[in-house]
Amino acid sequence: MPAYVVMGAQWGDEGKGKIVDVLAEEMDFVVRFQGGANAGHTVIHGDTKYVTHLIPSGIISGNSINIIGNGCVVNPTALYEEMEKLRQQGITISPDKFIVSSAAHMVLPIHQYLDRVLNEKIGTTVRGIGPAYTDKVQRTGIRWERACDGSSEEAYREHLDFVEKVYAIVEKEEIKVLRNDIPELVKTVERLKPFVQDVRPLLAQAVKENSKILFEGAQGTFLDIDHGTYPFVTSSNTSIGGAYTGSGVFLNFDKRVAIVKSYTTRVGEGPFPTELFDETGETLRRNGNEYGATTGRPRRCGWLDLALLKQSCIINGFNYIVFSKVSCLSGFETLKVAVDYASDGSPVYQELPGWEEDILGYTDYDALPENCRRYIEFVEDFLGVSIGIVSTGPDRDHIIERHPIFIS
Ligand code: IMO
Ligand code: MG
Repeated sequence: MPAYVVMGAQWGDEGKGKIVDVLAEEMDFVVRFQGGANAGHTVIHGDTKYVTHLIPSGIISGNSINIIGNGCVVNPTALYEEMEKLRQQGITISPDKFIVSSAAHMVLPIHQYLDRVLNEKIGTTVRGIGPAYTDKVQRTGIRWERACDGSSEEAYREHLDFVEKVYAIVEKEEIKVLRNDIPELVKTVERLKPFVQDVRPLLAQAVKENSKILFEGAQGTFLDIDHGTYPFVTSSNTSIGGAYTGSGVFLNFDKRVAIVKSYTTRVGEGPFPTELFDETGETLRRNGNEYGATTGRPRRCGWLDLALLKQSCIINGFNYIVFSKVSCLSGFETLKVAVDYASDGSPVYQELPGWEEDILGYTDYDALPENCRRYIEFVEDFLGVSIGIVSTGPDRDHIIERHPIFIS
């Protein structure tokens, strides 16, 4: 059965949206399995730019059934607004093409409030992700099944009673506002009710019928709650284990696709050994337009960290790499890649010669400058995983396919 999982191999924003979009066109199912509206996946079709946060990117090509799995946390208002925005861009979203697992948890306004007041030092996206997962693990969360059985209002009221009891940090006035907002929230959830169901039987059937399935990861491996740079992480398993716990189905992924940006970026706080604070970092940010799709924050930029990526390959068992944004590296005399860390934790660099030529939109591998090919092949050899696709620009046609990504 052709099954694919696509994951970010670094700290997110590797360019997952574009590749998922290309793959999704051929899929029967596209499944998101973790995270929430903290993700920002950009898909460009001609002159139109779509940004998805919650809805799987497969919705844009429109051929697949798009599922939000139980491992995700979903804000009803954010979801409703995202649906409306995509509809305005001409995308059809109907309950036979888009389904939210009834076992996924809700992100509520109180979670966004708590994210704001509790998680400042992490530099979160303030989308309420951490507090929503906290409630899930604490067993005080609200699952989407409450929308189906019509008990969401009761659930919200009970939940706010709980919050009032436990979190002294939440001002009384705020609780009052949140209570007053419940009817509006219930109205939104009622509108979304047709999209909610237990997706596990559906996925089990899809696997049985040999359907083409794509699992779409959000964030990146080093934002994983277990394997990332804790506590500067997101609150879900962004690595391969999350695909299983976050969907409720076992499948043998034929292609475990790493999206690797050809340099490194990170948003928010936390360690970043190859970060550049100088003009070179500025140039990378400018070349790559490195500003968050969700929050608009400038991303921290630095050299490619292969020592880190080696870990990523171990964690996820990647067997295919998409090497993205290579066109942003043109014009550097020398490129550095970290191949190890010294005893003080600082990166040990290998220098590679750069190239001048603008390679935006190239589709032929042999036409790339020799030093560009050397850079790509150095990475491939170091990681021991083949780079199947080199992405040379934001458009879906800006692709060099060295090894076929589709399995027939
Ligand atoms: P995509 O899917 C990059 C980062 C935040 C913060 C940390 C925790 O577009 O790659 P959270 O709001 O999740 O509790 O924030 O994780 N973060 C991301 N960084 N890309 C993302 O998603 C991210 N989602 C969360 O900046 O450092
Ligand atoms: Mg992003």
